[in-house]
Amino acid sequence: MYKNKISIIGTGYVGLVGGVCLADFGNTIINVDINEEKIEQLKRGEVPIYEQGLQDMLDRNMEEGRISFTTDVAAAVEESEVIFISVGTPPDEDGSADLTAVLEVAKTIGQNMNGYKVVVDKSTVPVGTGRKVAATIQEQLDERGANFDFDVVSNPEFLREGKAVHDFTHPDRIVIGTESEQAREILSEVYRALYLNDVPFVYTNLETAEMIKYASNAFLATKISFINEMSVLSEKVGANVQEIARAMGMDGRISDKFLHSGPGYGGSCFPKDTRAIVRIANEHDVDLKVIQAGIEANEYQKKHMVEKITGRLDDLEGKTLGVLGLSFKPETDDMRESPALTILPELIEAGAKIRAYDPQAMEESTWRLKEYEQDIIYCANEYDTMKGSDALVLVTEWNQFRRLDLQRVKDLLANPVFFDLRNVYKEKEVAKYDIDYIGVGV
Ligand code: UDX
Repeated sequence: MYKNKISIIGTGYVGLVGGVCLADFGNTIINVDINEEKIEQLKRGEVPIYEQGLQDMLDRNMEEGRISFTTDVAAAVEESEVIFISVGTPPDEDGSADLTAVLEVAKTIGQNMNGYKVVVDKSTVPVGTGRKVAATIQEQLDERGANFDFDVVSNPEFLREGKAVHDFTHPDRIVIGTESEQAREILSEVYRALYLNDVPFVYTNLETAEMIKYASNAFLATKISFINEMSVLSEKVGANVQEIARAMGMDGRISDKFLHSGPGYGGSCFPKDTRAIVRIANEHDVDLKVIQAGIEANEYQKKHMVEKITGRLDDLEGKTLGVLGLSFKPETDDMRESPALTILPELIEAGAKIRAYDPQAMEESTWRLKEYEQDIIYCANEYDTMKGSDALVLVTEWNQFRRLDLQRVKDLLANPVFFDLRNVYKEKEVAKYDIDYIGVGV
């Protein structure tokens, strides 16, 4: 455990989960955000996102006095030796990460620096940002005529939404990108609880650490696109992609993880980071053909889901489709880049009406799909979506959709056709109820 205070700037997924978990490791954390409403909510002990285990951990650490919340960035900088930057880096119109918030924080750090600081970049940022952060801080110091030592470290975060607390506390590795011995030692103390649990630490330079995050996400996204392409071919040749993935995964060099075909990957990281790394490469006159192809295959996969449905149901005009799941994956209310955001509008454009249900994402869906509100009815539960529908489409594999009462499904649907875009069911078991089953690549 690290003895001095740590500031975490930004209370999004990474900042809040990171803050609460680092507090749980025994550190003293100041979590900072400029959003007053959010900070007030957190001060009352309320977690603004849906994330397993986070509320309990927050309660515990607030009670023990290890975590506090403030909007005062300047005071937080002064009080702490380690400052994590975990503000958002939303994609610009051209796909590059918008660094305004990161550099704004760097500026504030430079303006309020009062001694040696370790500035840790936890947001996913283009290669070279660490150096920009350092330059921005130095500029402010020069302007003030101040002379303090500081180090900038890239410490990428690999947590998944929905499993954020688990992933933060059980990482596969901790990457620490800096050549400063002092900063390496301080961060090792911050993460001491993990070190004691035998988590491997990778010490490298700034640029390598920044690349590790992009390379990992781009590889996983491409792996999904690879199996999705295999699913399209499997459908044509009469093969079963699930069995292909299972057998491929038995090869330890491949592994069975991230080899599930579906409607395409979504979320806040894979689409954004794949586009960003291609862009970064372009700026350096490098053509990342494999990742570019992975991005295109993902776009195709979403369209292919629509073709699957229109191909089987012919004309969608006047037809109603029951839709299960809207979030980009289960256990989250997040719909960023969810395949549903492409698939539903295209089905509606083709004439369909939608009856949708999602355990967490319906609120977000009402504004994200506002343009289509006339054609979407949000339902009370999964069975409600099926009432009188011409087909059922499972888009996101929430656990509660894994145990559907298939007799009830058959009785409720006007036309018993089931598009299972996540291959949750087996054709044989669904066919027993006289329901037509269409999976992905099976
Ligand atoms: C991802 C990375 O896993 C994480 O390490 C990184 O820090 C952020 O991005 P996340 O976006 O939360 O995390 O979700 P993840 O569980 O990785 O799923 C991403 C998308 O891929 C989802 O849309 C999911 O449905 C899809 N997916 C995943 C597949 O289609 N098939 C798979 O086999 C795995």
